[in-house]
Amino acid sequence: MKSLIVYASKHGTTKQCAQMIHNNHEGDMFHIKECANLSLGQYDSIYIGTPVYAGRVNKHIKQWIEQHLDTLKTKKTVVFLSGMNHEGLDEVKEHNFSDAATKSLRFEHVGGAFKIDDMNMFEKFIVKVVAKVKTSVDEINYDKVNQL
Ligand SMILES: Cc1cc2nc3c(=O)[nH]c(=O)nc-3n(C[C@H](O)[C@H](O)[C@H](O)COP(=O)(O)O)c2cc1C
Repeated sequence: MKSLIVYASKHGTTKQCAQMIHNNHEGDMFHIKECANLSLGQYDSIYIGTPVYAGRVNKHIKQWIEQHLDTLKTKKTVVFLSGMNHEGLDEVKEHNFSDAATKSLRFEHVGGAFKIDDMNMFEKFIVKVVAKVKTSVDEINYDKVNQL
């Protein structure tokens, strides 16, 4: 069984989850920008991770999923979303992916983290005002990530 882990990450949280999955499964891990010419035929399972910002997933991840949907459907594929809104998975799925993708692939929310020290002024402001958070918070669901 060979697994492929594909991810995008702005502040490293989704990458951290991808790395955990990679440690648990034999196979390869690539940033989405390294995946243009990847042959998927060699993989049995494919894990695809993206953070959620302002309700949106990474656009390259989104495009890659839609482009390879016919192949992804034939494998064990898990799309894992990293975000701090723990209730909004269905909404994020519906707003970002086609019906064909949401119906045929498995989506999981794995939690997220606010890394205040890595944020720019705008991000710090948004997090302070919207989420009322001023210090770094780790809400990754480690058990869930390890069970994927
Ligand atoms: C400006 C900003 C907007 C965010 N918007 C959302 C959001 O709409 N929904 C959500 O679930 N999480 C949101 N988050 C939380 C991130 O998705 C979370 O920190 C995630 O773990 C980041 O992953 P990354 O480190 O891989 O980029 C937001 C964070 C920031 C800084």
